[in-house]
Amino acid sequence: MTEIKLGIAGLGTVAQGVLALIRRNGALMAQRSGVTLRVVRIASRREKPGVDLMGAQFSTDLDDLVSDPDVDVILELIGGEGVALDLIRRALASNTPVVTANKAVLAAHGNELMSGPGKQQLRFEASVAGAIPIIQGMSGGLAANRLDSLFGIINGTCNYIFGEMESNGTPFDEVLAEAQRLGYAEADPSFDIDGVDAAHKLTILLALGFTGEYDLSAVHIEGIRHVTVADIQFAKELGYKIKHLGIIQNTAAGVEARVHCALVPSNALLANVNGVMNAVQIISDGAGETLFSGPGAGGEATASAVLSDALALGKQFSTGNGIGVDTQASETTQAPSPAILPMAEVTSANYLRIPTLDQPGVFAQVTQALSEFSISIDAAIQHEASASQPVVDIVLLTNNVVESAMNAALERLQGLDIVAADIVRLRVAPAL
Ligand code: HSE
Repeated sequence: MTEIKLGIAGLGTVAQGVLALIRRNGALMAQRSGVTLRVVRIASRREKPGVDLMGAQFSTDLDDLVSDPDVDVILELIGGEGVALDLIRRALASNTPVVTANKAVLAAHGNELMSGPGKQQLRFEASVAGAIPIIQGMSGGLAANRLDSLFGIINGTCNYIFGEMESNGTPFDEVLAEAQRLGYAEADPSFDIDGVDAAHKLTILLALGFTGEYDLSAVHIEGIRHVTVADIQFAKELGYKIKHLGIIQNTAAGVEARVHCALVPSNALLANVNGVMNAVQIISDGAGETLFSGPGAGGEATASAVLSDALALGKQFSTGNGIGVDTQASETTQAPSPAILPMAEVTSANYLRIPTLDQPGVFAQVTQALSEFSISIDAAIQHEASASQPVVDIVLLTNNVVESAMNAALERLQGLDIVAADIVRLRVAPAL
């Protein structure tokens, strides 16, 4: 039996989940893995009365984690880039392995952390999609494959909001306020609803499976604020659900990396991932289509991923390999990084909702403007106008169009006198 002494940074929801899981399943973990996890030190800004620290020493100084010779592995569960980054750097420099759930720090500093001192001692299963073992799945389970594409619902807040808008017809702002009240969305929800959280996660998946580079700037980022209940209903009429997706595609022209809303066929697996659940679908040359799904957030769900890393490190100790062999960091692509395809060169079919004045010739003007950019229409909806509704939505699905042409056409359409409000444009997901 190998004992791993843990030092935990932070005492929030995930740290409390870690304590709860060790308390409940510690013996089971030891029996299955031969590794006993013991929490010896916890450092956090504030003590939380009522939380059972399992006999660990508590301090408010993160330095104590790094300087305590008793600590074998540090669990960084603070989040953000400031003190968390500093802690990870110092721990790795002093040869203490780190397990982190911190996607922001990896997306922004992954290259440095994976190439600096102690690079092979950083594990981060919990950084993407909470409980889902997607990091091990990609870097271990699918290691023999060339990965061709990845589609992920990797932000539970966005997925929950779209689900509520669809099932209850509740407007975006009201659902968001309710999600904040229930604790699903942060007090400042912008990272979630503007796509930044999903982009952090996609950056990690992009590096691990496709490019070997942690480069947040390679990811095109859009959020969900512009989507209305009307769009969700029109999409349904056309046979689709609207999801916020992370997409990576390995194409002959380069690697596409983007997070944005997308129309997904209603019968696709990802269309039926609901609420705060996450899912990642990967298409690879040998394994074909694989789907990983599960809770993308939550104390014990995220703790499950954190502790899988701690146990993996413990197993390395127990085999006598020491820490630093066969870790996630060492499994990133070593070949030259393939080029990222600029978003302007990405091709997609598009959903357009064009709010127009109810007058003769409107449809003709819209189709004329699109034809100027060689864009053809695959489907169209227009409902009858009513006396109380002088603006009428024309909803179109276009053929596959290169982004630069679609953007130019949108500018042209938006400038037409008969267009009465902002056009909503959503892309259709590539074949799923
Ligand atoms: N805020 C994230 C989400 C969970 O809504 O999916 C943590 O990454």
